[in-house]
Amino acid sequence: MLVHSFRIFKGRIGKRGGHLGFIHYLSIIAFCVSLLALLFIDVIELWLTSLGMSKEGLHVVDLPHSIPPTRSEEYLLMPSIHVCQRAKPYLITLVATAPQNRKARQAIRDTWGGEVQIRGHRVMTLFIVGQPSDPVLGKELVEESKERGDLIQGRFLDSYGNLTLKTLSMLGWARRFCPQACYLAKVDDDVLFNPSALLQYLNHSVKTAESELTELYLGRVHIRVAPDRNPTSKHFMSETAYSGVVFPDYCSGTAYVLSRPALLKLSLAAFAIRLPSPLPPEDVFVGICAHRAGITPTHSPLFSGGPAVPYSRCCYQTMVSVHHTKPGDMVQYWTEVHSTAPCSWLGKRTSLGFCKVRALLGTLLGRDS
Ligand SMILES: *[C@@H]1O[C@H](CO)[C@@H](O)[C@H](O)[C@H]1NC(C)=O
Ligand SMILES: *[C@@H]1O[C@H](CO)[C@@H](O)[C@H](O)[C@H]1NC(C)=O
Repeated sequence: MLVHSFRIFKGRIGKRGGHLGFIHYLSIIAFCVSLLALLFIDVIELWLTSLGMSKEGLHVVDLPHSIPPTRSEEYLLMPSIHVCQRAKPYLITLVATAPQNRKARQAIRDTWGGEVQIRGHRVMTLFIVGQPSDPVLGKELVEESKERGDLIQGRFLDSYGNLTLKTLSMLGWARRFCPQACYLAKVDDDVLFNPSALLQYLNHSVKTAESELTELYLGRVHIRVAPDRNPTSKHFMSETAYSGVVFPDYCSGTAYVLSRPALLKLSLAAFAIRLPSPLPPEDVFVGICAHRAGITPTHSPLFSGGPAVPYSRCCYQTMVSVHHTKPGDMVQYWTEVHSTAPCSWLGKRTSLGFCKVRALLGTLLGRDS
């Protein structure tokens, strides 16, 4: 049967010019396949990631039923405790920032962080910092907080090794002072975030009424990452701190989103974990807590977190987060992306395809930052 149809196929092609005709057909097919792959590169990425994600059942540990409420004394600086009651944000974005990164904070306020209403939803952006070792910086933060009212400062030394404390501080603040928010986004201060694209994603993908939010832990999922056992490394993790061969799948810390129910459950799990020293990386820690709480991460190709995404207008209109963005570039990209007309469906698809391929080539050629 197969041989028979092959003969017919060969016969037909033969009439059209033999060998050359066959190559001709092949290249048309190859072209169409690559075009489709380019247009639906995010679907392919999603599928490949889901193949790689850990399939083992979650063995959920017993979580405490409640934890002590967050006290306002845990924060040295914060906006009015009524800030969320007044603004009623649907989405609150908390930006993890270092005391000295004033320029980055200003760029965010001047761009995506300045938005208050998007696609019919209220949104709010605040910054979370620790304590600087330099008292001059400390005073400047107090001034900045008085002026802008958008800083939350936890009681811990602001350092790379303490990022997990920053996240715990952030979760505690959101839990206690912002119960109005349905979604919490944690974003780094070098990320060009696109709340509009996120809200669109949530509207299309999370089809539940607001009254029954599901547990969502969304971002760029890192799969099967092994702990770094080199004691001199910045990400060192001892066997006693984490004994597993690989970490549970987790969302890249550059930008991830938690729904309110996920935030509450994750906080319970975090409370039950004894923090090792040195602390695990922030995103790994959140992944471990999510795993213990029985929450699986959801991957979205619209979050960057791997290779840097080269700038292109329609691609940046589509992406939810792009990291490694300098403050000056952030203002320029945002203005370009938002002062021009929305890209067409085809424009967005091709642009996303091209910038993903370029990002991938950049990594392969070793130009990743
Ligand atoms: C969400 O989708 C519905 C239709 O499914 C639409 O009516 C609504 O305006 C959308 N909301 C946002 C915020 O995009
Ligand atoms: C983290 O913060 C605590 C409390 O401020 C401090 O004692 C500790 O030295 C900090 N750790 C690092 C690695 O900076």
